[in-house]
This record gives sequence, structure tokens and C-alpha cells, in this order.
Amino acid sequence: MLKDLVYKCRSYRRFYENIRISEEELKDLVDLARMTASTANSQALKYHLVTRPEECAAVFGTLGWAGALPDWDGPEEGERPSAYIIVLCDNTLGKNKQTDVGITSQTMMLGAVEMGYGGCMLGNVRRTELAKHLSIDSERFTIELVLALGKPKETVKIVDIPENGSVKYYRDQDQVHYVPKRHLEDILV
Ligand SMILES: Cc1cc2nc3c(=O)[nH]c(=O)nc-3n(C[C@H](O)[C@H](O)[C@H](O)COP(=O)(O)O)c2cc1C
Repeated sequence: MLKDLVYKCRSYRRFYENIRISEEELKDLVDLARMTASTANSQALKYHLVTRPEECAAVFGTLGWAGALPDWDGPEEGERPSAYIIVLCDNTLGKNKQTDVGITSQTMMLGAVEMGYGGCMLGNVRRTELAKHLSIDSERFTIELVLALGKPKETVKIVDIPENGSVKYYRDQDQVHYVPKRHLEDILV
């Protein structure tokens, strides 16, 4: 059911790194993105796929993880993502496609969850460095978002927003990750 998939589609940041995701599987995800709605049907977004361990390590080094957890530097070796999809805007086809980025990215994340994987969208990216590592032509392409993917190793639980209204996610001593979400009645205007 779509509802189960959406509820399960959390941001996961620790993975079984030895469980690799193939390029074919990533292509299947991009094929889902290809079928989504697009502003003026411009389809300006393109995708760079990363599966090789050396390339994964290079991408990992450019990412900022979990800003709300200042004492955590991101996943340790052995718990890092085993693949990435770099969402690019081809500037020759259109610019500022942020809405399209959200639509395609969430669709691919849902596809990944259906395949038994999971991941995290990352906007905190050192883009110039990443473009250099991946030999992406920065004149033509803007790096919009990075989708980090793998077989999740962590438990993520949805909780109510506390009395003080904080939306900050947090972890307990067992590394269970808690994400406060607003109630349905609180987002109906
Ligand atoms: C556009 C976008 C950018 C994000 N960037 C980052 C990021 O740079 N680093 C990170 O650890 N999480 C990032 N996240 C994940 C959010 O922190 C996460 O979605 C939020 O905490 C809610 O958790 P949930 O996805 O499990 O509902 C990003 C999410 C979105 C939608």
C-alpha cells in the first residue's frame, strides 16, 4: 500500500555498507523519476549514478550529515551508503527546478524503499568539490541534491511534536532515531 511505503520512507543515515546496490537498480529508480510531473514538461533534471566503492567514498567526503545532531559526524566506515544518485539540473534545458527536484527525489526514495533499501536526501553538499570528483561539467549542470542509498541499519520512529514545539530529530542511547511530525489537524488550514 502507498501509505505503508510513505510511512516507511524515512531518512536513514546508517546502512549495511557491504550490501551493494547495482547500477541497474539505480537506473530503475531514475526510470521512475523520468515518469513524474515536470514544470512545463521541461524535464531539465538529469542523474549521475554512483555505485563503485572508490567513487562512493569520494561522494561521502563532500556531504554534511544530520545538522540537528552536532555530536555526530555521520555514518562510520561500514555503515556508509552503498550508492548515490546525484540529481543535476541541465541548465541548457531550464533553471531553478527546485519543485521538480522534490518530486523526482521523493519518487526515487519511495522506489528504493519498495526495493528493500532506504536512504537520505542531502542538500548539505560541497558542490564544487563533488563536481570535481565526479568530473561533472559545472557550467552546464547544477548539483541540486544527493540521494544517499543503502540497506538501512537503523530504526527510525515518528513521534509527536513536544510541548516546546521543537521539530528537531534526536537519538537515544541505542541510536534509535526519533522524528517529530505535526498532527494532521495541525497542518489543515
Ligand atoms: C531537500 C532536503 C534536504 C535535506 N538535506 C539533508 C542533509 O543535508 N543532511 C541530512 O542529514 N539530512 C538531510 N535531509 C533529511 C531531513 O533532515 C529529514 O527529511 C527530516 O529530518 C525528516 O525526517 P524524515 O525524512 O525521516 O521524515 C534533507 C531532506 C530534504 C527534503
